[in-house]
Amino acid sequence: MSTERVLFVDHTGQIGGAELILLDVVEGRRQSSVFLFEPGPLSEALASRHLNLIASKWGRGVTQFRRDSSVLSALPLAGRLAAIVVEIARASRAHDVVYANSQKAFVLSAIANVFVKRPLIWHLHDIISADHFGAAQRRAQVLLANACASRVIVPSQAAAAAFVAAGGRRDLVEIVPNGLAIEPDPSSPGELRQRFGLPPGPLVGVFSRLAPWKGQHVLIEALAALPGVNCIVAGDALFGEQDYAAELSQLVAKLGLDDRVRFLGHRSDVPKLMKAVDVMVHPSIDPEPFGRTLVEAMLAGVPVVATDAGAAPDILEGGKAGTLVPPADAPALAGAIAAVLAKPEQLTRQLEYATGRARAHYSLERMLHSIGLLIAKAQAGAAA
Ligand code: UDP
Ligand code: GLC
Repeated sequence: MSTERVLFVDHTGQIGGAELILLDVVEGRRQSSVFLFEPGPLSEALASRHLNLIASKWGRGVTQFRRDSSVLSALPLAGRLAAIVVEIARASRAHDVVYANSQKAFVLSAIANVFVKRPLIWHLHDIISADHFGAAQRRAQVLLANACASRVIVPSQAAAAAFVAAGGRRDLVEIVPNGLAIEPDPSSPGELRQRFGLPPGPLVGVFSRLAPWKGQHVLIEALAALPGVNCIVAGDALFGEQDYAAELSQLVAKLGLDDRVRFLGHRSDVPKLMKAVDVMVHPSIDPEPFGRTLVEAMLAGVPVVATDAGAAPDILEGGKAGTLVPPADAPALAGAIAAVLAKPEQLTRQLEYATGRARAHYSLERMLHSIGLLIAKAQAGAAA
């Protein structure tokens, strides 16, 4: 059991990939607390982790301030943001280290740090680039990181490079690849399909929250060129992208694909569901900071077709552990899916390689060990 008193801070009560990582990082840290801007499924999941949960009185709705919003549009929120800063500063007093798990959490924790000085770790799960953030936000993040962070943990070389390119201090950056512990379901894909009521025949799937940059629309466009191929879309709009969810349904109707595309909403059984498909598609149109679903598919022994941007080429080792296609290119995606579906037996080697690579490079144990060392070092540095 870890003895450091860490104040983990996250802005959302939803459970995205970054929060799934947080749930693993806090495990066994009973002297620590989690400060959340808003309640939600994450607070419920944390309740069983036996640590102190601190709920902001002012944070509800702050997450609706989108990552690409202008600074001016944040002004009405300024009072509430200031109140959250005060809450974080107060909570910091009883802790040795502050660990911000999201961009919004980091910005407010960094300001709080001016009042209550503690080593501040930023677990940066994003790619700080124009694809994902407005110019003012990028500048503010990097300035605060350079001035206040004692470490910036990123999950990939791509996220590290973007941070440095945006002006972030290279010496702050520590690359800790995300780690997952998933035991594949022993059932065969056929049994799983039956269990989930999924159709026989060629079946592809995408397993990401619904958001324009995750690119589900590109997969749907590609399906129009893949007659006879069915598709499942798992995931929900977690961070205010409901319009996009509606657009996806309209696109399916417009392309006449209602009988081939099934929207499953948010699922808590993704690794099992994933094992039932013939191809796991990762169609992000902007660079992916990491992409847990890539590793989930590799562990499940399912062929991956992913866009060649962000961390995906690294995780898939330039195409050795999966197929890479250009982002936002429906014909290329359709071609790659068709190629995988046509010759599944030729992929046996690639799949074995991918599973071995996922186990060796992206294990939960490895990630927790690295993060544990960084937290201990930050605490020791402060005590010295
Ligand atoms: N996921 C889930 N239910 C869904 C869709 C996705 O539990 O319906 C999980 C998925 O298995 C993965 C995580 O959400 O572990 C998403 O993480 P990723 O790094 O792929 O992307 P993010 O959403 O964090 O950008
Ligand atoms: C973020 C990123 C995703 C990454 C996850 C965990 O949500 O979008 O790529 O895998 O955090 O680091």
